Amino acid sequence: MRHLMNPLDFSVEELDRLFDLAGRIEADPARYAHACDGKKLATCFYEPSTRTRLSFEAAMLNLGGQVLGFSDAASSSAAKGESVSDTIRIISCYADICAMRHPKEGAPMVAAERSGIPVINAGDGGHQHPTQTLTDLLTIRSLKKRLGGFTIGLCGDLKFGRTVHSLINALIRYNDIRFIFISPEELKVPDYITDMLTEKKVPYEEVIRLEDCMPELDLLYMTRVQKERFFNEEDYVRLKDFYILDKTKLSAAKEDMLVLHPLPRVNEISVEVDDDPRAVYFRQAQYGVYVRMALILTLLGIEGRV
Ligand code: NCD
Repeated sequence: MRHLMNPLDFSVEELDRLFDLAGRIEADPARYAHACDGKKLATCFYEPSTRTRLSFEAAMLNLGGQVLGFSDAASSSAAKGESVSDTIRIISCYADICAMRHPKEGAPMVAAERSGIPVINAGDGGHQHPTQTLTDLLTIRSLKKRLGGFTIGLCGDLKFGRTVHSLINALIRYNDIRFIFISPEELKVPDYITDMLTEKKVPYEEVIRLEDCMPELDLLYMTRVQKERFFNEEDYVRLKDFYILDKTKLSAAKEDMLVLHPLPRVNEISVEVDDDPRAVYFRQAQYGVYVRMALILTLLGIEGRV
């Protein structure tokens, strides 16, 4: 039985197969409409989410399966003190596959050890968010037709942003990737990541101003300042509007640069940018459904039967 905890749980070849499957689903969704008839997905969300949870649910419903679950810890037995290990043992009796989001780093991994069904990490604290990374990679691959040879700017909360940590991890396996980390001093990417990049000889730079690197970028990954992971409100208020991508800043970018964002957006991208053809964050959400459909089929071991 296979779980997905980290984007690196899949080899580059396996990811290629997954993305090819997502592409076939996009081209002919009707063919997959009954692939999961009789199967159930449990969504166990101990932390708020709109996109990730609904995108998993839409994915399973599109495959003909059914969904059950909870969307916050207060409405589950966690409120009574039940451990994730016990919860997953119970969920294993009710469902065929589980997507779990948890504020504690490593909680989905603990669950996976006790689980009788595949567990997908749908975001654990500030740690990893592998299905967002699959979404990001599929978006880039579909729109740029490749996954290597990029200068990618990651901007915003690089300290707490789990989507950023997962994406960096996944991208370094492709050739000719260069990172530019754009953040205020307080929200810099953690040392364990820069140490890993140095060790693997992946080039990176750290800058404070978005304007200083815009013309060089092939991809710009914007992120929200992660309010819920701050220890004090004052720091959050001081940093929350540090970056606002607007038309003026975007005018310095390459014609074919892509702007991605895992969403939800707060203020970091002005709505006037939404109509720019380079802004692909809403299309990204659509790719998220295709890739989760492909992932469910793969983890259930039925991808070859459709
Ligand atoms: C992200 C997350 O939950 O980490 N959202 C998402 O899943 N699309 C990003 C965020 O909350 O800022």
